[in-house]
Amino acid sequence: MKFSGELPPDQKEALAAQIAQLDFKKIPQWIERYVKNEGSIAFPDHFDPAPSYPPQPKTAEQAEKYKKAYQLGEELIAAGKVAGFVVAGGQGTRLGFDGPKGDYPISPVKKKTLFHLFAENLLAASTKYGTTIPWYIMTSPLNHGETIEIFEAAGYYGLGKENVFIFQQGTLPNFDFDGNILMAAKDAIATSPDGHGGSLKALYKSGAIADMKHRGIEYISYFQVDNPLVRLIDPLFIGLHVMDKAEMSSKALIKADPLEKVGNFCLVDGKVTVIEYSDLPDEAAYRTNADGSLAFELGSIAIHLISVSFVEKLNEGGGFALPIHRAVKKIPHIDENGNPIEPEQPNGVKLETFVFDALPMAEHSVILQTLREEEFAPVKNATGVDSAEVTRQMMIDRAAAWLEQAGVNVPRKPDGTPDCVLEIAPSFALTPEDLKAKLDRIPTINPGDKIYLG
Ligand code: UD1
Repeated sequence: MKFSGELPPDQKEALAAQIAQLDFKKIPQWIERYVKNEGSIAFPDHFDPAPSYPPQPKTAEQAEKYKKAYQLGEELIAAGKVAGFVVAGGQGTRLGFDGPKGDYPISPVKKKTLFHLFAENLLAASTKYGTTIPWYIMTSPLNHGETIEIFEAAGYYGLGKENVFIFQQGTLPNFDFDGNILMAAKDAIATSPDGHGGSLKALYKSGAIADMKHRGIEYISYFQVDNPLVRLIDPLFIGLHVMDKAEMSSKALIKADPLEKVGNFCLVDGKVTVIEYSDLPDEAAYRTNADGSLAFELGSIAIHLISVSFVEKLNEGGGFALPIHRAVKKIPHIDENGNPIEPEQPNGVKLETFVFDALPMAEHSVILQTLREEEFAPVKNATGVDSAEVTRQMMIDRAAAWLEQAGVNVPRKPDGTPDCVLEIAPSFALTPEDLKAKLDRIPTINPGDKIYLG
């Protein structure tokens, strides 16, 4: 407030409005616990591996359940009870891409962006099930305006502006290590998005939940902006969630190695809980079952199904708060004389919440395993692991596998990788089964070909 005397009235007002948004009840506790101290979340005394559904049924009884769940899922989609929801408020710093990550061109042949692919996915599922699947998109002050511009310029990718609901998540103030709130400018507090956990509040506050209820939506298919392989609208997942009366469910992968950097699905007091890779003790990470598999083998890939009634219950219940996680960061700010500082070393703490921390608040929760090559290829880094190059190759690999399942010959190199560049548009096929119905439209694929099926 030191500079407020120098500010013109409108800037003063804007600053006052920002200050009014601050949660003065909680800030002193946060400063004590997470800013001045490293206080992490209370770690459970006892935790077990969480049960899950395998990708394919293992018994006749399970096969029967999967069949029923799939049918139920398809009925619910066709009845217009399912919406898509992407969390896209992150900064995407690691990718080094200037702009909202959803605008990153990713598809192997046509270079379609992530947003474009998700939109096509929803459009294709809408057509397949004879319904309209609306899309909810959470942005943050870092990218809200740009995201709207992208959708406007793209004509909402054919979804219809009325079926795309773009809203902003909340922010939390940034602190220096002494617990002072940093100022970004004389008229603005330094803030950052409140993490993807903020989506559970923002869905409600923004009116997205009210909009869903108005449309008759009961289930939210939650995914991250970085994963173009996600099966956006999955009848089996939806059906299992509903049959088991779950409120919030998750997809999981068998971890590639004990220390893979993904959250671990555990059971704590009978509730599904994600324990971060950094918090899982090595003993538990390396523990194996009699058959040699990892005891804690299920990794979280940030794909969830969330009941609309669950989000309502959390927000209407009053005392809903997700645990706070701290991140030490370089935070640009102004000093006490108003001079801008671009720190070269971490100089403060940002706070955020994670959506998976809501899992233990759910009465019931289902975990469905999926396969990495089918559903998980996040674009996170400029090079190496989880880079665009790896994601593109995984898109080609999955297309090749689907084509082969449909009986199409795909040329392969001696090392087994496809000797061609392939792209299957969601409008052409959402599943391998869809491909089988379109065999007459698939050309012969020769080594070195670039094939786009759309
Ligand atoms: C995340 C998960 C990790 C999971 C992995 C899968 C956490 C802490 N970790 O890692 O368990 O295995 O994804 O790819 O979440 N976002 C917002 N608002 C925010 C912050 C993030 O909308 O304030 C969105 C991003 O736009 C993105 C997603 O959340 O779509 C994930 O964010 P990111 O920071 O990239 O997560 P990771 O650390 O990569």
